[in-house]
Amino acid sequence: MLSDPAGTVRSMSNGPRSGLAAVSSALLAMSRHLEVRDVLKTIVASARELLDAEYAALGVPDDHGGFAQFVVDGVSDEQWKAIGPLPRQHGILAAMLHEARAERLADVREDPRFGGWPSAHPDLADFLGLPIRDGDEVIGALFLANKRCPRPTGGCGFTQEDEELLAILAQHAAIALTNARLYERSRELTIAEERSRLAHELHDAVSQKLFSLRLTAQAAAALVDRDPARAKGELHQVAALAAEAADELRAAVVELRPAALDEDGLVATLRTHAQVLDRAHTARVTFTARGVKALPAAQEEALLRVAQEALHNALRHSGARQVDVTLDRHGTGAVLRVTDDGSGFDPHAVRREGRHLGLVSMRDRAGGAGGRLTVESAPGKGTTIEMEVPGG
Ligand SMILES: Nc1ncnc2c1ncn2[C@@H]1O[C@H](COP(=O)(O)OP(=O)(O)OP(=O)(O)O)[C@@H](O)[C@H]1O
Ligand SMILES: [Mg+2]
Repeated sequence: MLSDPAGTVRSMSNGPRSGLAAVSSALLAMSRHLEVRDVLKTIVASARELLDAEYAALGVPDDHGGFAQFVVDGVSDEQWKAIGPLPRQHGILAAMLHEARAERLADVREDPRFGGWPSAHPDLADFLGLPIRDGDEVIGALFLANKRCPRPTGGCGFTQEDEELLAILAQHAAIALTNARLYERSRELTIAEERSRLAHELHDAVSQKLFSLRLTAQAAAALVDRDPARAKGELHQVAALAAEAADELRAAVVELRPAALDEDGLVATLRTHAQVLDRAHTARVTFTARGVKALPAAQEEALLRVAQEALHNALRHSGARQVDVTLDRHGTGAVLRVTDDGSGFDPHAVRREGRHLGLVSMRDRAGGAGGRLTVESAPGKGTTIEMEVPGG
């Protein structure tokens, strides 16, 4: 009989198994699957087996008069291909979906709504179809054709009892289908969130390191003929920055805090960072800390990331000669300021979509750590990014 990998039940006609046991195992098989398509396949295969039909199908309508999904059982792959495109919602299929009513027909071909089928389509005679409903909404239609008869001659057709059995299956199919959809939706959301986290993380940490790395490599290239000893020094710096970028990448992927924060604390990490940038860029970069105590881990991490992006923006966009970073105690928390004497910009004019992730990401990080971010800037006036966190 059936050997569908989605897991099905044996035919009722295939042994002494009671009808109840067969229904029960069909229902169990349905709820075992989490992927919508597997659930659909199991429902269709179970229905065909339980009601001993030659063909079974299940269609999930889309909003455009077609089917978002259409699963069949009893038709070989070659046959399925030969039939051609998926059916549209018309004739008897449409009636089941739109009028939400069962259709039990002795011969589908004689029904006035019958509109023919493609040449490779199997010949269907007796037909039983039911809508699958979730509350008032019809989420699909389940149908069977050509009930197998004890005597090969003459059709026997589906009975009232078959219809009741299929109704039970359809009710459970609705639950299984709804659950499977919820599951897929929640998984999509998790993936989307994860992707956006990774994008921010990569932007904040890795692309900044790579930018410094590129500048340092250019400096080394410029020096190599004139001053090989200094070029060598710059190349050591290139190696160090590359190693840091690799660490940041690893940390972003497994969502670790920057290792330096745990080892050295926020103040020392910020100081080193400022020193590295001071050496790598023509602008002077300073760092001053006043009275700051250790802060909750999430707040320290957010402060570091915001400082890194603010510094990066100042060095990349402003043409500043001086960039100062300060970290001051503020009540139980702290306040970070990154000030440059560069070109300034109009924060309201920055388009939120597109490639500019930095300002959005800084706001997200400040908010995520229970803090607040302000951007003070105007063309010709330089820029100050200020972030305040509440502490523990
Ligand atoms: N300190 C600054 N001085 C001058 N202009 C700045 C400064 N910071 C940001 N800007 C301007 O604001 C824009 C948006 O900055 P944001 O950090 O959001 O994006 P980005 O730096 O362009 O790209 P990304 O950060 O995603 O790599 C910048 O393109 C730049 O025009
Ligand atoms: Mg930026």
